Amino acid sequence: MSKDNEEMVVTPWETRGKIDYDRLIQEFGTSRIDEKLLKRIYKITGEKHIMLERELFFSHRDIDWVLDEYEKGNKFVIYTGRGPSGGVHIGHMVPWIFTKWWQDKFDGTRLYFQLTNDEKFWFEPDLSIEKVRELTYENALDVIATGFEPENTYIIQDIEHIDLMYEIAIQVAKKITFSTARSVFGFENSMNIGGIFYPAIQAVPAFLHSWIYGKKTPCIIPCAIDQDPHWRTTRDVAEKLGYYKPASIQNKFLPGLQDASGKMSSSQEMSAVYTTDTPKKAKKKVMAAFTGGRDTADEQRKLGANPDICSVFKYYTFLFMPDDKELDNLEKQCRSGEILCGECKQILAPRMLEFLEKHQAAREEAKERIHEYSAARLRDDIRR
Ligand code: TYM
Repeated sequence: MSKDNEEMVVTPWETRGKIDYDRLIQEFGTSRIDEKLLKRIYKITGEKHIMLERELFFSHRDIDWVLDEYEKGNKFVIYTGRGPSGGVHIGHMVPWIFTKWWQDKFDGTRLYFQLTNDEKFWFEPDLSIEKVRELTYENALDVIATGFEPENTYIIQDIEHIDLMYEIAIQVAKKITFSTARSVFGFENSMNIGGIFYPAIQAVPAFLHSWIYGKKTPCIIPCAIDQDPHWRTTRDVAEKLGYYKPASIQNKFLPGLQDASGKMSSSQEMSAVYTTDTPKKAKKKVMAAFTGGRDTADEQRKLGANPDICSVFKYYTFLFMPDDKELDNLEKQCRSGEILCGECKQILAPRMLEFLEKHQAAREEAKERIHEYSAARLRDDIRR
């Protein structure tokens, strides 16, 4: 069956089929980021962001409310995360890059970054504790290399830092029935009971700051839309436990290089560009990318190509061509047949390599600094 006809499935653990983002907004009950909200964000931050401008971030819950509170002088915290099941690819970095911008613009805002090694241990049948620990370390380097400020960033590694979270997790767990968890997350009878408990753990960082400091504090969660089921249950229990419902701001998936309509995913090696790929490997992936080109160069020169279905064009749009004029020009050249796909990829490759080179240098430096970001620092602040 072709992917276009395959049923769309978007859950925190599985994404397949052609993704219809309008339908997701409806089914998940989130709100679209409209002009009014965009203007408000830009007014406060004083700067536009291409991920908002080009609708990579497209959906939200209660961001307008958090901004109301902010304008009244109530600061918020930010929470995002990663499940360390393998290497980090640049799709994973989309919400992190945006989170960094948000942290920079709202000066001094605290970020809780959760590395869910327990989740991945429970959900990946072949992942051992040793392997998941190694991946947690490797992924933490990527998080730090994104550039977050150490003073305001707390990386929580679930297995190591469970003592910071357990008191909240058990209260959340008590309020979510198995029947709700099954309908929200689609759990089957074969799911191990660790997996069934897990959503209580992912809820915790949304409340952690309020719990530690004894003051109800709004929280914003930037992430792709696949994580939204977690925020539904988290929001359901929030007020019952005396906390604010967390807000969230949600992005579309950066597509894989082999398929512009899906999600960059670790299951397709050539489709995903990893942060640790060598320049040679990354270039090979870019040059093999799926495009909207024609079968022959002659045909393309005559008829032009289709950027709407091209994964390379999506990379320009969302990450690598922030200049609107440059992007418009490229689109014209593509549609008119003036530029061929090979030539177009030759523009993307060096930009991708430059991004990787910078990230890899920062990743090396992060090795010396990992303790500066550790959530273990929070232990001193907990009053029991
Ligand atoms: P994980 O590790 O699957 O994904 C990490 C983050 O990347 C987003 N994402 C993508 N964004 C753009 N394009 C893609 N192709 C793409 N693939 C994944 C995910 O939505 C996520 O934001 N359970 C979570 C870990 C987690 C978390 C959180 C994530 C714990 N707490 C709070 C976000 C916010 C997970 O396994 O994410």
